[in-house]
Amino acid sequence: TEETLILVKPDGVERGLTGEILRRIEAKGYRLVDVRLVRADRALLAAHYAEHEGKPFFEPLVDFMMSGPTVAVRATGHRVIEGFRSLAGTTDPTTAAPGTIRGDLGRDWGLKVQQNLVHGSDSVESAARELGLWFA
Ligand code: GTP
Ligand code: MG
Repeated sequence: TEETLILVKPDGVERGLTGEILRRIEAKGYRLVDVRLVRADRALLAAHYAEHEGKPFFEPLVDFMMSGPTVAVRATGHRVIEGFRSLAGTTDPTTAAPGTIRGDLGRDWGLKVQQNLVHGSDSVESAARELGLWFA
């Protein structure tokens, strides 16, 4: 069965939304097969966000992701990668559709980085790579 990496980012953990976010994933029908609280270091985040290295939001993004603990989740289910990204909503939480995690629970706080509560792998290849990083 397909698997994906889901992160409840530090803003979601800090705001006490971990339970609500995991509830939505389970309610959709996906299985949480591993969950851990991680204090990500710079090396882990540089690897995780390698595709964004050099972009203007890269350093603020890494700093934000080091600002507090992240909840890393291994979730499984048929088409879970696509399904979770649909549950999460689009990247910008201000305009993410209501009904989605970002659309219902997130907004722009006027900071340099978009704090958008969650991450989900975007392909089978990135899921394998990212699960290897966060569940090493
Ligand atoms: P993830 O599920 O976190 O990967 O989100 P995504 O796939 O919707 O976004 P993407 O992979 O393109 O970017 C990773 C993260 O960088 C986003 O979730 C945002 O936190 C941040 N980010 C992406 N694009 C921008 C941008 O244009 N400006 C700012 N400030 N932050 C961005
Ligand atoms: Mg992405």
